[in-house]
Amino acid sequence: MNVTKAEMIITAGNKTQFPQHDLPEIAFAGKSNVGKSSLINALVNRKMLARTSSQPGKTQTINFYNIQETFMFVDLPGYGYAKVSKDQREKWGKLIDGYLQNRTNLKKVILLVDIRHEVGENDKMMYDWIAHYHQNVIVVATKMDKIKRSQVQKNLAVIRKGLGLSKEDILLGFSTETKQGKEELWSIIEDGENINR
Ligand code: GTP
Ligand code: MG
Repeated sequence: MNVTKAEMIITAGNKTQFPQHDLPEIAFAGKSNVGKSSLINALVNRKMLARTSSQPGKTQTINFYNIQETFMFVDLPGYGYAKVSKDQREKWGKLIDGYLQNRTNLKKVILLVDIRHEVGENDKMMYDWIAHYHQNVIVVATKMDKIKRSQVQKNLAVIRKGLGLSKEDILLGFSTETKQGKEELWSIIEDGENINR
């Protein structure tokens, strides 16, 4: 999809702020600093639509972006950021659960993991949490430019095993630097099949 129009709609800190509309939503989940906001920017060819940071914990709200009046991209706050208080973590859990559980607009959830690392307990928990509400969670392994090409298949296999993915589950390598995986991810997003159970 050639995106010429992308617009931030709202940064929602609680459920009552989630916008009402009829567009299908595509949500991006994953550990803090894994590259969710960067991935959104890469998909829509914009450098700063979604705010990114080398410091983890940048996105703490659920941010909604209207993409070409066709999709709503939803940037979820990251997890696994050590410096948050117990209160903040609880708030995060409630916010995400409130979103994942009841959101009828939600058509696909894309879970990002870092291709360099084995999946953590948090990633596995998040995967299971999303998979509890939705089928066919799409997993994207980011920062592919940071490893040698010869390592890619091996690392993908480790991630597949760590998350307990089956052969049918989609796992895709991605890099915002080289744009590898971009076309493939767009075709997955545009595939009209939705994943609500
Ligand atoms: P939170 O908002 O804290 O949850 O983080 P996030 O997942 O939105 O991460 P963000 O997009 O802010 O990216 C974190 C850092 O990783 C930034 O410095 C990005 O430039 C970098 N980054 C993201 N994707 C890639 C990638 O594919 N390759 C490389 N080399 N760097 C990346
Ligand atoms: Mg972010």
